[in-house]
Amino acid sequence: MDLKETLLKYGFHFESDTDTEVIPKLAKFVHDSLNEDLGSDGGDKQLEGAYALIFKSPYYPNELVACKRGSPLLLGVKETGDMRTDINVESDLSAEGHHGKPKEYYLASDANAIVEHTRRVLVIEDNEVVHMKDGAVHIFKSDSDKSRRLLRPASVQRGLSTLEMEVEQIRKGNFEHFMQKEIHEQPDSLTMTMRGRLIRGGEQKAKGILLGGLKDHLKTMRRSRRILFIGCGTSYNAALAARPVVEELSGIPVTMEIASDLLDRQGPIYREDTAIFVSQSGETADTLQALEYAKSNGALCVGITNTVGSAIARGTHCGIHLNAGCEIGVASTKAYTSQIAVIVMLALALGDDSLSTQQRPNAIMDNLYNLPSKVRDVLKLDKDMKELAALLMDEQSLLVFGRGYNYATALECALKVKEVSLMHAEGIVAGEMKHGPLALVDETLPIIVIATRDASLNKQQSVIQQLKARKGRLIVMCTEGDAEFMCPDRTCRIIEVPKVHDCLQPIINIVPLQLLAYHLTVFRGFNVDQPRNLAKSVTTQ
Ligand code: F6R
Repeated sequence: MDLKETLLKYGFHFESDTDTEVIPKLAKFVHDSLNEDLGSDGGDKQLEGAYALIFKSPYYPNELVACKRGSPLLLGVKETGDMRTDINVESDLSAEGHHGKPKEYYLASDANAIVEHTRRVLVIEDNEVVHMKDGAVHIFKSDSDKSRRLLRPASVQRGLSTLEMEVEQIRKGNFEHFMQKEIHEQPDSLTMTMRGRLIRGGEQKAKGILLGGLKDHLKTMRRSRRILFIGCGTSYNAALAARPVVEELSGIPVTMEIASDLLDRQGPIYREDTAIFVSQSGETADTLQALEYAKSNGALCVGITNTVGSAIARGTHCGIHLNAGCEIGVASTKAYTSQIAVIVMLALALGDDSLSTQQRPNAIMDNLYNLPSKVRDVLKLDKDMKELAALLMDEQSLLVFGRGYNYATALECALKVKEVSLMHAEGIVAGEMKHGPLALVDETLPIIVIATRDASLNKQQSVIQQLKARKGRLIVMCTEGDAEFMCPDRTCRIIEVPKVHDCLQPIINIVPLQLLAYHLTVFRGFNVDQPRNLAKSVTTQ
């Protein structure tokens, strides 16, 4: 608003209400001021908030300038010959490199946009300015002296990194949509997430968990007074799903924090805390800011992200990569199940050192091994979920009740349904049913009750009875073989899912619900991969 008011005073006109429009107009203003020798500062220095910008102007043909703060920006470099690992911007990024090989450059906010051209990238850092002219690239760094704010050429000595992804990952293959592909990829993405981390010995040998990125920090984590999980949206839900097992196996109290709410409250964080930041993109502005906040309070900061080299991966003291492969659909699916799997492995690692001697951790590890094949089984419900979606497609609203391990499943199902199919949906912890939501129940409103076998099964049965007593229109998710037992009068629609260990059951249970959200969206005719008003990485606050 401040900049806009100034520009209005100088006679600029605005055609929209977006803050983005201020930026090119500011650039024009800065350009004119410099030409008239009014001594204006570099324009990007006057901007507040997160941005990644590329400028092109008829005043400067064959030139391009890019800069960033807060948001990601990658420079892709393509060359036909061998590249040295370390590059010096001045000498190595010129159009004709040392070996006289022509280069192509790409600028993008996401590796997915670059990978089909080149895998060699330079991650541009805050306050760096990329200048391309006549095919050569130079990178400048802002002077730290704020009063002068000059740009000085910086010789960037960090090496190019190599993107660890395949071009196939950014193609839809035989699927109609990325969301559909990513749901069906989950047996493989989970396998990738667990690869090399789940150690199976011979019959006599111990099994264990190996989380290389945490090896120097596990002891500190075990000694921490509290663990905080911090994230937004689906990533928050994933941590919520795994919270009970972290509490159980580590014995450390766990607090859940939605990143923006933590910041709004400036909630207390201490040196003795371990703060775990969960983010698929690793770039979410709220989560990133919460990370800065936790760091400034002295907490040990751990990152769980799906994006190597992301701001959260770089900004945390240590971490675990999901290795789920790139996720392109705006609605997060495979990252969610991998996040839960990673946090369950973390819980096992935080538990006692002698894991193999204990029955429960051992059983969880066995179930982790079999998880991909169980997910493959549950994906066979695709047709049933499509039928259910056809029945529900004209509804206004959907309630989802879960509890314990599957409270998060209820929240995540509702989030998926609302964000892609644009149908109102609400996830409710079943223990709260009597404290308000029961008033909504009638014979028309569809209600999903998650009632797979675990310690809260009896309570969920009683929830089903109470909902039936009010003629609720029920869809019950239960363990295979339990249909008769959960709904003897056969008045409910049933979704039967394979059984796994209780703490891993949320990974199985969410899959049919992701499929439901997907089919609902297709039937309702909305954009599956890019729901209106949403972005894949929320880099603004
Ligand atoms: C929902 C969804 C969002 C993200 C949230 C956090 O499907 O994708 O709720 O989970 O914006 O994003 P990340 O995990 O990238 O920090």
